[in-house]
Amino acid sequence: MSAPHNRIFLLLTALAVTLAARASNYDETKVGTYTLPDPLVCADGTPVTNAATWYNVRRPEILELYRANIFGRSPAPGTNTTFNVWDTDTNALGGTATRKQVEINFSGTPVGPVAHLLLYTPAGKPAAPTFLCLQFGGNYTICTDPAIAIFPGWNPKTRALQMPVNPVRGQASNNWNVAATLARGYGIAFVNYCEIEPDLPGGAGLPYGVHKNFPAPGPDGWGAIGAWAWGASRALDYLATDHDVDPKRIILFGHSRLGKTALWAGAQDTRFAAVIANCSGEMGASLSRRDYGETVDDVAHHFPYWMCGNFQQFAHHWTNLPVDSHCLISLIAPRPLFLNTGSEDLWGDPHGEFLAARAATPVYQLLGQTGLTETDFPALDHPLLHDLSFNCHTGKHDVYPLDWEHFLDFADAHFSQKN
Ligand code: GCU
Repeated sequence: MSAPHNRIFLLLTALAVTLAARASNYDETKVGTYTLPDPLVCADGTPVTNAATWYNVRRPEILELYRANIFGRSPAPGTNTTFNVWDTDTNALGGTATRKQVEINFSGTPVGPVAHLLLYTPAGKPAAPTFLCLQFGGNYTICTDPAIAIFPGWNPKTRALQMPVNPVRGQASNNWNVAATLARGYGIAFVNYCEIEPDLPGGAGLPYGVHKNFPAPGPDGWGAIGAWAWGASRALDYLATDHDVDPKRIILFGHSRLGKTALWAGAQDTRFAAVIANCSGEMGASLSRRDYGETVDDVAHHFPYWMCGNFQQFAHHWTNLPVDSHCLISLIAPRPLFLNTGSEDLWGDPHGEFLAARAATPVYQLLGQTGLTETDFPALDHPLLHDLSFNCHTGKHDVYPLDWEHFLDFADAHFSQKN
């Protein structure tokens, strides 16, 4: 290449780099300084000094800020949703479990959409505390039980519903510890989030999910996370009617974007007795004002359809956010919440989740619960088990068998005495 051409090439490259998204920060000394909104001061400046002011004034204020600016407003609970328990086996998984498969029809008409709930409860044990897990694949990926029905799934490449090619039963079983969960006296239920609303690039799934049954939303209308959270509440509607499940001890679990969803579902629907958000990261439990890993800009740019339209105004203007993730965490209080993170999940900013949990702790304490009083980030794989719990596992943006032991310990700490 000749010298002038070389210069033009360099100039164009520099321009392209400038126009491209800024590089993510992974340097703790460069996260910047920030001031978090105080969850215990009302919009009119009144300090929240008692539970009544929290429940009657400040909590509704924070919920409204999330609805208006972040996740959008969800429709009222679907009275049209119908449930069809089409499979019951009281001798499943070698006699250790009762299995049910339930068709959830979100419109109650042939239009659907339809999700398929898989439920295992410990054999012979009515009213078990139960995990409701939002998950990424078909139910057949959970475990090798040959009776689990295989349904078509959404293919993000073709953007079409199609039967899985060569489905492998139990291929995601490492993420779930169904046998251990049952052995410790818990039920466990699964719903594939894409059956609530397909998560297709650019929001192409919205016309096929629960959005289609409601009027087109305005700038504060629900995004896909709102849709998935709403679907989780409909699954809870079913579980609350099942005599093998204790409706007062349902623990919602989600990983990653479904960790964000679990937090938002738990914030809005207080029937979820506890929430576990695994590697929920940006717009989940990690602080947005900390410039580390994924940022508000990244979410606004790559996943605009997850959020409401009004969220876009905060791209490049994070400090204008009227809330931060500690406020979302506070909305779960006083109910138990477990934030699990991963040492290699820097994109999700584990330290930002730890600091958010610390910042939400005054709300837990106001409501007579225990939060994170530890000032130091804990040793890896050593959970800080409180009402507001935190752990950082050794490893990636994932869910490991050891995590499930921690989740079960967390559940035992809050629910097993009532078994
Ligand atoms: C992307 C996204 C994250 C999200 C994750 C996931 O990495 O940036 O915010 O948590 O996907 O859901 O897997």
